Amino acid sequence: MRIIITGGAGFIGSAVIRHLIKNSDHDIINIDKLTYAGNLESLKEVSAHQRYHFIHADICDSVAMHQAFETHKPDVVMHLAAESHVDRSIEGPAAFMEANIIGTYTLLETARKYWLTLNDNGKHVFRFHHISTDEVYGSLGETGLFTERSPYDPSSPYSASKASSDHLVRAWHRTYGLPVVVTNCSNNYGPYQFPEKLIPLMILNARTGKPLPVYGKGNQIRDWLYVEDHARALCKVVFEGQVGETYNIGGHNEKTNLDVVRTLCAILDDLLPNHPNGITKYEQLIKYVTDRPGHDMRYAIDASKIQNQLGWKPEETFESGIRKTVEWYLANGAWVEHITSGEYRHWLEKNYSQRTEMA
Ligand code: NAD
Ligand code: TYD
Repeated sequence: MRIIITGGAGFIGSAVIRHLIKNSDHDIINIDKLTYAGNLESLKEVSAHQRYHFIHADICDSVAMHQAFETHKPDVVMHLAAESHVDRSIEGPAAFMEANIIGTYTLLETARKYWLTLNDNGKHVFRFHHISTDEVYGSLGETGLFTERSPYDPSSPYSASKASSDHLVRAWHRTYGLPVVVTNCSNNYGPYQFPEKLIPLMILNARTGKPLPVYGKGNQIRDWLYVEDHARALCKVVFEGQVGETYNIGGHNEKTNLDVVRTLCAILDDLLPNHPNGITKYEQLIKYVTDRPGHDMRYAIDASKIQNQLGWKPEETFESGIRKTVEWYLANGAWVEHITSGEYRHWLEKNYSQRTEMA
């Protein structure tokens, strides 16, 4: 098959491409704008492969999208390109509306027009897989799990833009018959994640003796999934999922943010016993700072549909995955060095300086 993957230079997209090049015979066409979050170095181990192709383009550019579809004639589209960081969406929502809503709309229209030109078999085989987040469901209370039937109730500009894109994708199925599948996944972690997100940020700050900014009391709960488990789940859904269906993907790993940060600190105490800046435990770097506005309290996924219908379940435990992740960041200083450009440093300093330290 020929598979277009948008956002393939990002954290999850690059994991999907590495997985597909290594474990399938499919041709991969990566379409990515290479924003601050996109990095071709994440694809170094597969980019010389003859089945890998790269198109440097914006998904909002309909001419470029038509050209890509005409040239490569995809059987499948896996759409991951998006602005993905909640804090950035609070600071500057415009880029999220553009990439996540207009970008998804542009891609859907391109796919629909292309799909109409296919013969009956081509139309039948074609899939548009939209990759989304559990954040579209809003926040859970102390109990309960998100299912595929949970009502949409997004809190942040990021999650509202992803909710909008989910609605567009379903509308293109109901109205035009475009064969779509949608997945909503919980928080991912693992190698190659941009260090603005909780886990890599804490590892890299701790390593250099910088403060570890915990928002509010750190009692918010996320359901963590190792990125390679997510990549496997996405491949299951795109090849075996039912057209028009939604599948929730999650790791059965509910942890408070504080637990995650403490776990990272304990692993670092073990792996890097020469502590920086006169501290004796990395936990001493934890700083409680002002909370994120509209901060969702708890996310947790009921993944029984994908498990029962498609036979997927996570292979990595949180304990093994988190240790592997810390080891990866410690061993891949060059990757981190190259992506942490001036723009990123500026963002980090600004984000931190806007948060007041709490007692
Ligand atoms: P990321 O920020 O690491 O990567 C996003 C990629 O999209 C980058 O390579 C970027 O260059 C590209 N991109 C952004 N705007 C683009 C545009 N207009 N045109 C072309 N390319 C563009 O994000 P990620 O964490 O890999 O997330 C991938 C997808 O998975 C997103 O749709 C996100 O909403 C979803 N998701 C992420 C998580 C998570 O925990 N990271 C969880 C569930 C769902
Ligand atoms: P993040 O990795 O940004 O993912 P998301 O907002 O999509 O869940 O944040 C994960 C959790 O960690 C979230 O509850 C916010 C919190 N957090 C902090 O406490 N400190 C930080 O510096 C960051 C980036 C996040």
